[in-house]
Amino acid sequence: MVSIIRRAFSVKRLLQLLLLLGLAWLALWTTVFRPKLTAVERGRRMAEQNGCFGCHGPEGTQGIADPGRPSGAVPSYRSLMMYARNEQDVREWIRDGVTASRAKSESWRKSREAAALRMPAFGKRLNARQIDDLVAFVMATSGEEAPEDSLALAGRERASNLGCTGCHGVGGRFARPNPKSLKGYVPPWDGPDFPDLVRDRHEFDEWVEHGVSRRFDENPMAKYFLRRAVLHMPAYERFVKEGDLDALWAYVTWLRSGRPRATAAPGSESP
Ligand code: HEC
Ligand code: HEC
Repeated sequence: MVSIIRRAFSVKRLLQLLLLLGLAWLALWTTVFRPKLTAVERGRRMAEQNGCFGCHGPEGTQGIADPGRPSGAVPSYRSLMMYARNEQDVREWIRDGVTASRAKSESWRKSREAAALRMPAFGKRLNARQIDDLVAFVMATSGEEAPEDSLALAGRERASNLGCTGCHGVGGRFARPNPKSLKGYVPPWDGPDFPDLVRDRHEFDEWVEHGVSRRFDENPMAKYFLRRAVLHMPAYERFVKEGDLDALWAYVTWLRSGRPRATAAPGSESP
């Protein structure tokens, strides 16, 4: 009798313990390990999974040959503004395979028929949110979302010339895979993880100059994850010139100030 009670008691205890462990893991997962991807990064992954890069080239930056097309190649997202006036046009291209205004043009129809490749309409395969993510990715890749402030613009330029955009993606906005790192990706500058890593300008400078902030360098748990990752933030102290850090910081501040917007004037769509 006593042993039965004891067994029931210990099973209950065990269940409680398991529940507690489960909750602790859940808390750790949601606060520390759970990936928090931006729309741009979700769009990049979506584009990869939906065959966009087969025609538009690696990350949409180098369209493949398209015999029969006047330009001879599929457009790259970098030449976006020859095809789209704004975000809404980009959405229509992806959803319908053409914009409403261009669909009316006889010359467009002729050149489409003459070419080997056609832009598929993804509206039936993907839902509105997935298409929004693709639009965010295409807009980020196009480079059309540029800061008006000249210092921030210079920062974007330096990020590209110094090679930052290799790991951090176009404009510092991708989350490329980084195996064995804490979240599994290189944190983008406009992502929700950024404030965890960079509290202020001082920490930003530390990351760029030394490849790590002092706060992270002194934290054994953070150091463990930084060390076991494949990609590491390099130290640029010897390579940044006077004014570079100001410019980079201005750019990142602009990026984080809200959703960047394309600045193209309406009516730039070519016939
Ligand atoms: C079979 C090849 C092919 C695939 C796959 C493809 N595209 Fe296209 N895309 C084209 C062609 C060709 C054009 C030019 C359309 C025209 O002029 O009629 C185009 C045009 C576009 C445009 C407007 C022009 C520009 O700035 O590049 C966007 C945006 C675009 N595609 C995005 C996408 C996205 C996003 C995907 C994947 C979800 C995708 N495309 C998949 C061939 C393709
Ligand atoms: C070789 C890949 C690589 C390059 C090139 C690179 N970074 Fe990083 N960066 C990382 C990784 C990985 C992290 C995450 C911390 C870590 O694991 O070391 C990071 C973190 C950062 C952070 C911390 C905040 C955050 O969320 O991203 C900043 C700021 C940063 N990098 C700026 C830059 C700048 C500016 C340049 C160019 C001057 C640059 N990075 C070039 C890989 C790179």
